[in-house]
Amino acid sequence: MEIKLNLKKPDERIKSQLTPKDKLPFGKLRTDHMFVCDYTDGSWNNASIIPYSDFSIPPGAIVLHYAQAIFEGAKAFMHPDNEIYTFRIDKNAERMNISADCLCMPEMPVDFQIKAIHTLIDVDRLWFPIQEGASLYIRPFMFSFDDSLGVHPGSKYKYAVILSPSGPYYPDGFSKPIKLLITKKFHRATPGGTGYAKAAGNYAASLKAGEFAKKFGANQVLYLDTTNTYIEEAGAMNHYHITSDGTVVIPEFTDTILKSITSQSIIELAGDLGLNVVQKRIKIDEFIEDVKSGKIVEAGGFGTAAVISPVGTYVFEDGSSIDVGNGQIGPISKKIYEYYTGLQYGKIKDSRGWLKKVEKMHV
Ligand SMILES: Cc1ncc(COP(=O)(O)O)c(C=O)c1O
Repeated sequence: MEIKLNLKKPDERIKSQLTPKDKLPFGKLRTDHMFVCDYTDGSWNNASIIPYSDFSIPPGAIVLHYAQAIFEGAKAFMHPDNEIYTFRIDKNAERMNISADCLCMPEMPVDFQIKAIHTLIDVDRLWFPIQEGASLYIRPFMFSFDDSLGVHPGSKYKYAVILSPSGPYYPDGFSKPIKLLITKKFHRATPGGTGYAKAAGNYAASLKAGEFAKKFGANQVLYLDTTNTYIEEAGAMNHYHITSDGTVVIPEFTDTILKSITSQSIIELAGDLGLNVVQKRIKIDEFIEDVKSGKIVEAGGFGTAAVISPVGTYVFEDGSSIDVGNGQIGPISKKIYEYYTGLQYGKIKDSRGWLKKVEKMHV
């Protein structure tokens, strides 16, 4: 399928807004254009890049009532050769299709998703933020817009991609650990449900837990499984911990945990990092004992936005808390962060073909 370009005129573009001095927020800014494609009559049609603009959908659109919507989150980086590279974008496109299947939505071929994303980045490449630690956040998403009340899968879908030039997730450097509330009251996902998908509804369902965490002075919750036995996720990140022998432990992927591309990458990079990385079911009671005894020395969350969010303190629902290690960011978390971001920014050689250059075709 060809991608039609319906671009703003050069003098209508807002490309000159970004200067190296701007303190860019994460995820707030948009670029001039977006990619859109409609699924109607059983196939994808009208793939185009158009000016960033509002959608017009009927008030009865399925997405507004039954949350038939999915999304992805990926990043592109500027390398020392002044070229833009997407990072593991094929994994995001594959997961988009896993989410689509989970919500009875049509798949979009992986290669076409990559073509759409790369063409959009190319068209808006002048928006790339030239700043230390900045990146271009990529948000593909899909929703059903059939005007139809009644719970059933739609027959009309829109797949779209928007971009957000973003500053570093840690504007003041990678220095402040987060606090997680261990909650037995809220659960993110149920077995047999949509927890393994990036379904919009999962995130709506997580808002109350996030607000609850704030009442305890915590940044987010640590989710357990529905029996309150095993660790599941750290808010919208996979959880990890590191034992005193240097082993990184990530909860085994189940249908209630999102298969994080960051976690999968760190598992694959274990050899480069000289680390032993394992996945297993982790009992919360044993985890707490091991934090108290000092057997667990570091912990945190893995995810695209922050890469790593080290946890300094776990708070309980009775208000008590425990620190991990000395409550500060540990050396192994720091090493993973530096290696991972070094790879993303082209400072460390990518021998796995994870970074894909955005070819210059339209600018
Ligand atoms: C629930 C949840 N878990 C984990 C992650 C981390 O996944 P990734 O590393 O692919 O960004 C995310 C973020 O996308 C998430 O929303």
